[in-house]
Amino acid sequence: MADIHIDLTKLNKRGFLDIEVDPSLDLFQEITRLKKEKNAILLAHYYQDADIQDVADYIGDSLGLARQAEKTTADLIVFAGVHFMAETAKILNPTRKVVIPDLKAGCSLSDSCPPEAFRLFRQQHPDHLVISYINCSAGIKAQSDIICTSSNAVGIVESLPKDQPILFAPDKNLGAYVNKVTGRNMLLWDGACMVHELFSREKIDRLCHRHPDALFIAHPECEETVLELADYIGSTTQLLQFVQKNSSSSFIVATEPGILHQMEKAAPQKTFIPAPPNNACACNDCPHMKLNTLEKLYLCLKYEEPEILMDESLRLAARKPIDKMLEISAKLGIQ
Ligand code: 13P
Ligand code: SF4
Repeated sequence: MADIHIDLTKLNKRGFLDIEVDPSLDLFQEITRLKKEKNAILLAHYYQDADIQDVADYIGDSLGLARQAEKTTADLIVFAGVHFMAETAKILNPTRKVVIPDLKAGCSLSDSCPPEAFRLFRQQHPDHLVISYINCSAGIKAQSDIICTSSNAVGIVESLPKDQPILFAPDKNLGAYVNKVTGRNMLLWDGACMVHELFSREKIDRLCHRHPDALFIAHPECEETVLELADYIGSTTQLLQFVQKNSSSSFIVATEPGILHQMEKAAPQKTFIPAPPNNACACNDCPHMKLNTLEKLYLCLKYEEPEILMDESLRLAARKPIDKMLEISAKLGIQ
């Protein structure tokens, strides 16, 4: 419970608790204490800052995070990730309170697919089954037949009859990759992730030549021209597992650089080089993920705001295709 009055009008405008944090506080210690006191679980995506990852109870990709959110018995889920991820946690475990450090931590990919425009698109293709990548709003999930993540997209599509017409949203790059691997011809919504679209094929090519022993690994949200260069393509968890198992000692990594923290922890003797973007910036940080900070995380755990709230009929409609995904993934043994 909050021990001060929180100005919700201010919070709603800014999306986070704009309260000054005592700089002498040991935030790691305070967050650990509050988690215990409140029976809270802290779930974090790999793209979060290293300090947030270090204080989390579970770090994972979208599929792993959804599974953890579904099975937790904690009273409070603190979701250090972006809005659609926290929303998915609420959809899967509605009796828990779900909070996020910054309500405005959105996603360019999710934003590229507004529910009303998508409804019209679907109406034009009534015979198509709708598979949506989990990086979308509850409004899109509610219009979908099956959800997928980057871990299971290929497996889910392959589990369907070859002649089944499919509409895939919102990521055209992941969709094109799945089409290529499975030999399908899914109709693709024209959406993309601003972070993964920024990688430069030319700069990566030059980097690969400078590091001939390094393997180039990439997330399937990257454009086809970048994926063509890759020695391995996978979700964040799959990329992390790959660098641990593979005997190579250096890797050029094309995804949000937050993942490098876990790679360096898991394989400290290996070298990880972030792939360069196609602009003057030195990194490909996701500006949405990086809205969350340790201070905002501490405040949201302490005051249990901002909370993810959802209309129950929307939640139920959005849950169906996620359950379908979890059921197929479990059958296929996808981790
Ligand atoms: P995964 O961690 O599921 O691979 O997703 C990557 C991503 O872009 C999340 O926003
Ligand atoms: Fe969205 Fe891309 Fe950021 Fe992931 S990395 S949250 S897909 S904008």
